Amino acid sequence: MSDEIKKGLLGIVVDETEVSKVMPEINSLTYRGYAAQDLCAKCKFEEVAYLILNGELPNKSQLKKFENQERKERKLSNTLLQDIRRFPRNAHPMDVARTTVSIMGLEDKETKDNSPTANMRKVMRIFAKTPVALAAFYRVRKGKKIIPPKKNLSFSENFFHMCFGKVPDKEIVKAFDVSLILYAEHSFNVSTFTARTITSSLSDIHGAITGAIASLKGPLHGGANEEVMHMMNKIKKPEYAFKWINKALDNKDVVMGFGHRVYKSGDSRVPTMREYFGKVARLKKDKKFEKIYNIVEKVMIERKNIHPNVDYPTGPTYHLMGFDTDFFTPIFVISRITGWSAHIIEQHAANKLIRPLAKYKGNQHRKVVRLNQR
Ligand SMILES: CC(C)(COP(=O)(O)OP(=O)(O)OC[C@H]1O[C@@H](n2cnc3c(N)ncnc32)[C@H](O)[C@@H]1OP(=O)(O)O)[C@@H](O)C(=O)NCCC(=O)NCCS
Repeated sequence: MSDEIKKGLLGIVVDETEVSKVMPEINSLTYRGYAAQDLCAKCKFEEVAYLILNGELPNKSQLKKFENQERKERKLSNTLLQDIRRFPRNAHPMDVARTTVSIMGLEDKETKDNSPTANMRKVMRIFAKTPVALAAFYRVRKGKKIIPPKKNLSFSENFFHMCFGKVPDKEIVKAFDVSLILYAEHSFNVSTFTARTITSSLSDIHGAITGAIASLKGPLHGGANEEVMHMMNKIKKPEYAFKWINKALDNKDVVMGFGHRVYKSGDSRVPTMREYFGKVARLKKDKKFEKIYNIVEKVMIERKNIHPNVDYPTGPTYHLMGFDTDFFTPIFVISRITGWSAHIIEQHAANKLIRPLAKYKGNQHRKVVRLNQR
C-alpha cells in the first residue's frame, strides 16, 4: 500500500460512470454521449433531465409522460408549506433547499426503499418539489403570498411564474433553460462525489441529495455564481474594472468564477452560456455587466492564464433575469438534482463502500493521566 498522499484526491480515478464525460483536452462535455452544447441548441431542459436520468433522449410520448409526472408532483404538503412560512426570512436559500429536501425525506413513504424503481419515483418528487419550495420561500421572505404552481407551464416557466408572478419572454426562458442544461451534470465534482459517498453506505436518496446541497453551497463549488455577482457589484462600473481586478491579483486574491480543477484552458460550458448572457443583456438593454465581464476575463487570462468557469456568465445572467443573488446557487440545485440522482442510482447499482485512508500525523501512544492528576 502506497503512503503517497493525493490531497483533494487530485488526479485519482475512483470509479466508472456512464452519466457524463468531461474532456478538458478537447474542451468538451457530454451527457450520455451527447455534447452539452448540442443539447442546449436542440432540446429543452426536461428532455435533458430525462436523458440524464434514463440514459436515452425521450421520444414525444416519453417526454409527455415525464413532464406530466413532474407537473403532478409539484404540489407541496401543507406541513412543508407551513414549515417554509416559519423558516427565518434571512436564512440562506441554500440552507432552505437543504432543509426542504431533508423534510421531504421525513414525509416520503418510500424513503427507506433504495430499489431503482422507488428511487426513480423519489427523484421525480424531489425534482418537482424542490423548485416549488424554493420559489415559495422567495415569496415568503419578501412578505408576499406564495403563488401556486401551474400545470400548463414548463419546468423553467413555472419557476419564473412562482417567483415573479409572470413568465418572461421566450428568449429569457430559453436562456434559463440553457443554464439549467449546462448545470445539470458534471461527473465526479465535489457535490456529486458527496452524494455517491453518502449512497455508498446504502443510505437513502434524500440524505444523499441533502448532503450534496450542503457541498454545492461552498464558494469553491456552486456558491461561486453568487460570489461573481458580489464581485461585479463591488466593481460597480466598467471603468473601475481594470484597476479592481489588477489590485485583486496583486493581493493574490482568489477571483471567483475563474479556474477549474479539471479544465485548465477553459470550461467547455462557458462559450454557450456566454452567448446567452449576451442575449439576455441585449434584451434587458443593460450592457454594464457584460463590459465588466470582458475586462475582468481579459486581465485574468493575460496575467494568470486562468479562464472563466460556467459560474462566471451565469451569475450576471441570473441577476439580469431579476433573481436575488442568493438564489443563484439554489437555481444550480434545481438542475443538478438530475445529475446527482443519476449518480446515486448508478452507485446503488454497483456499490462499494467509499472509505479512503489517511496518514496519521498526531501524537503516538500516550498514557492517559487520571483527571485528578492533570
Ligand atoms: C476551482 C478551484 C478551487 C480549482 O482549484 P485547484 O484545482 O485546486 O487549483 P488551485 O487552487 O491549486 O489553483 C492553481 C493555481 O492557480 C491559482 N488560481 C486558481 N484559481 C484561481 C482564481 N480563481 N483566482 C486566482 N488564482 C487562482 C491558484 O492560486 C494556484 O496558484 P499557485 O499555484 O500560485 O498557488 C480554483 O480555481 C478556485 O478557487 N476558483 C475560484 C472558485 C470558483 O470559481 N469555483 C467554481 C468552480 S466551477
